[in-house]
Amino acid sequence: MRYERDNIKGMQAYVSGEQPEDKQAIKLNTNENPYPPAPEIQQVIANFDVEALRRYPPASADKFRDLAASLHAVERNNIIATRGGDELLRLLITTFVNPGETIAMTDPTYSLYPVLAQIQDCPVVMVPLNEDWSLPHNFARQVNEANCKLALLVNPHAPSGKLLSTDTLASIASELDCVLLIDEAYVDFIDVEYDSIPLIVEQDNIVVLRTLSKGYSLAGLRFGYGIGAESLIAPMLEKTRDSYNLDLLCQLIAEVAISSRDHAMENCRKVIVQRNILRESLLQLGFDCDASQANFVLATIPAGFGCSAQQLYEELRNRGIYIRYFPDPKLRNKVRISIGLPEENEKLIDSIKSLQRVRGK
Ligand SMILES: Cc1ncc(COP(=O)(O)O)c(C=O)c1O
Repeated sequence: MRYERDNIKGMQAYVSGEQPEDKQAIKLNTNENPYPPAPEIQQVIANFDVEALRRYPPASADKFRDLAASLHAVERNNIIATRGGDELLRLLITTFVNPGETIAMTDPTYSLYPVLAQIQDCPVVMVPLNEDWSLPHNFARQVNEANCKLALLVNPHAPSGKLLSTDTLASIASELDCVLLIDEAYVDFIDVEYDSIPLIVEQDNIVVLRTLSKGYSLAGLRFGYGIGAESLIAPMLEKTRDSYNLDLLCQLIAEVAISSRDHAMENCRKVIVQRNILRESLLQLGFDCDASQANFVLATIPAGFGCSAQQLYEELRNRGIYIRYFPDPKLRNKVRISIGLPEENEKLIDSIKSLQRVRGK
């Protein structure tokens, strides 16, 4: 006897990147930040009064919302705090899309999106990206023609690291007949002029996703937030969000993290430097590797390398180096590599070189 709903029975589950138990493993597979979070966070944990756990936490994390509002020069009512960016994605779908209604995304994209759509029993329109990972110029028209209720764009894009300009986003949002999520999980690693937040004031159909997982080195905390027009934030905050979605300790940590943004940004600058060095090294080894605005690069296996992307992933894994391989047809000859510490990136390059010697022509 099966009790699951039919769409749950038939759906494909999300596959997370591996989390090896070996502390010596070099983890370049889940886009975590290789540098430590702000030292003030250790202090918060050390000073935490366990007795405070008797009570429920602040229901809507207002202190954090105020800090985020001040950082982005918006109002508290433009902010919702969530259990990772992932909870915001789920809230957007359950709040703005009825079961059976369509959700738009690009192909490829963050692989959790289609999973969340299936949970809500929503068909998905996948708009293929161009060869160079750019967005087709008629993206908004395709989304409107498919009568979509929500469009999901990752910017900078995952897994390519390509960035859409705010002008492009503004024109897409104004043409769309539905809600647009701009998923800025990797925004802190952008090294060019970019600020999408003014768009949420101009447009009432945009929600921007932010997370403390990447730029703030806090993937283990599970804390993210959304920024948008009050008319979009209020129903998620007041109706569809779980009561007490964020525990007390994680709220305190998130408040200190966002107040210590300078520390996080300094880490991100170091990641950007390493990103450029790693890309250069991969190019020298013959990999095709576009410039990335995120904390990862997407590299195409060179012809004559002697093994496929999947084999490279497996060979490196045998050596304790974890990178990401996606079986998706568009990505089958590529690997995504998160930027690690300088010595981790060097070990990766050395291992690829030795594999190339053994297996290549
Ligand atoms: C594109 C994108 N969006 C959102 C998230 C969600 O991040 P989190 O739930 O850790 O905040 C991730 C995590 O990897 C991501 O890659």
